[in-house]
Amino acid sequence: MKARQERPDRRVAARVLVSLVVGTMLMAPPAASAGTQSASEVTFTRDVLPILQRACQQCHRPGSVAPMSLLTYEEVRPWARAIRDKTAQREMPPWYIERNVGVRAFKEDASLTDDEIATIGAWVDAGASRGNPADAPPPLELASLDEWRIGTPEWIVELPETQTIGAVDADHWLDVWADSRLTEDRYIKAVETKPSPDAYRVVHHVATSMRWEEEDGEEGGGFLNEYAMGKNGDIFPDGTGRLIKAGTQIRFNMHYSSVGEEIRDRTRVGFKLYPKGVVPDRVLISRHVGDSFDTLDIKAGADNVRSDGYYVLPEPTQVTGFQPHMHIRGERMCVEAIQPNGTIETLSCSGHNFGWHIVYNYADDAAPLLPAGTILHVIGWHNNTASNRYNPDPKNWVGFGNRSIDDMSFAWMSFFHLPDDVFEQKLTERKRLRSN
Ligand code: HEC
Repeated sequence: MKARQERPDRRVAARVLVSLVVGTMLMAPPAASAGTQSASEVTFTRDVLPILQRACQQCHRPGSVAPMSLLTYEEVRPWARAIRDKTAQREMPPWYIERNVGVRAFKEDASLTDDEIATIGAWVDAGASRGNPADAPPPLELASLDEWRIGTPEWIVELPETQTIGAVDADHWLDVWADSRLTEDRYIKAVETKPSPDAYRVVHHVATSMRWEEEDGEEGGGFLNEYAMGKNGDIFPDGTGRLIKAGTQIRFNMHYSSVGEEIRDRTRVGFKLYPKGVVPDRVLISRHVGDSFDTLDIKAGADNVRSDGYYVLPEPTQVTGFQPHMHIRGERMCVEAIQPNGTIETLSCSGHNFGWHIVYNYADDAAPLLPAGTILHVIGWHNNTASNRYNPDPKNWVGFGNRSIDDMSFAWMSFFHLPDDVFEQKLTERKRLRSN
């Protein structure tokens, strides 16, 4: 694995663009012969709208955090070039997993295929025509923003105080702690984070996590849930659940952006719980993996600064999710699995954009199965140059620390352990699926 030179996806996107441009130049009139599809045949109603419905409209709709609605041709047309560029660069939809590396199947993956990006590009380059209205798929039925996707929660924890987001505040990030008020240990079946009903426009994203004190005085807890418009909350598979302890403190990591109007928010996190006393068969764990507390050493003006961290899985494990955690200067992270037999496999690599904190949940039949003793190796790369658009000051050395102007490098990995026999069974089943 090497430091970022050129991301595979960017390269593909660039090649698609180049071939489109060259293609358009070569494709001089008269029009292409029957049977070949010329770029001018790509239309909004038939080719582009279905892509926007699948990958954009959850966010780009009235009342949401996205700056414009993309439901109709009239709304989309003025943004055509911006849409071509943001999709070609894979900045939109926000999904920074390198799609050609490691695990390929995720839950709620809105990312575009290379073909979809090429279709959008060809449509824009040919003049962004509407096409035949009869070709349009029916409008998407978008669930109300206020609806809890996990069902009515039994337990809700709110921000301790209402936050006021001024009409013209700069984007801001803050950590707020709230008391869960739980007086007994329980297991979580489903969890979802939601802004106040009129605050969807200003809550860019929220990451929630838990903290409690273990009997030995150590800190326990872990990652809970990520909110971004269009995310559905986490409903854990039957028989799996996550512990929340009596006295847990909940951290809300908020990112607010102003919308020209003062808005008040009291984001909350809702839980569905297993009945009191019930312990699910598989306890989901989310933990920091690969922290580089002492080794993070990011020199002023340096790019591609690498740091490494490790964690040994004590038991056979199914990994369910990956979220890079870095601050402003973080640019890319990979996690690989080094098995006791020497096999080394990259699980995922992802770009990191401080504007978004995205959790990548693996599809159940692609979630890595790793034997006891496997080392998870997390590699982070930071960019402390001015080419990082979030960098407030490339002239300063940066090390590990809690403030966002300090930096970090670790992955939140979510997983559960399995008894040996169940693990072996799952491995066999996986091999059978693969060989079909
Ligand atoms: C998870 C929510 C989400 C999804 C999904 C999403 N967007 Fe966005 N989009 C945003 C937000 C929020 C912004 C504002 C900039 C930012 O925060 O990155 C944005 C910005 C943009 C911009 C730049 C607007 C400007 O002011 O210049 C374009 C263009 C865009 N999105 C197009 C798309 C397209 C096309 C898709 C689907 C292929 C898509 N987006 C999917 C949330 C989303």
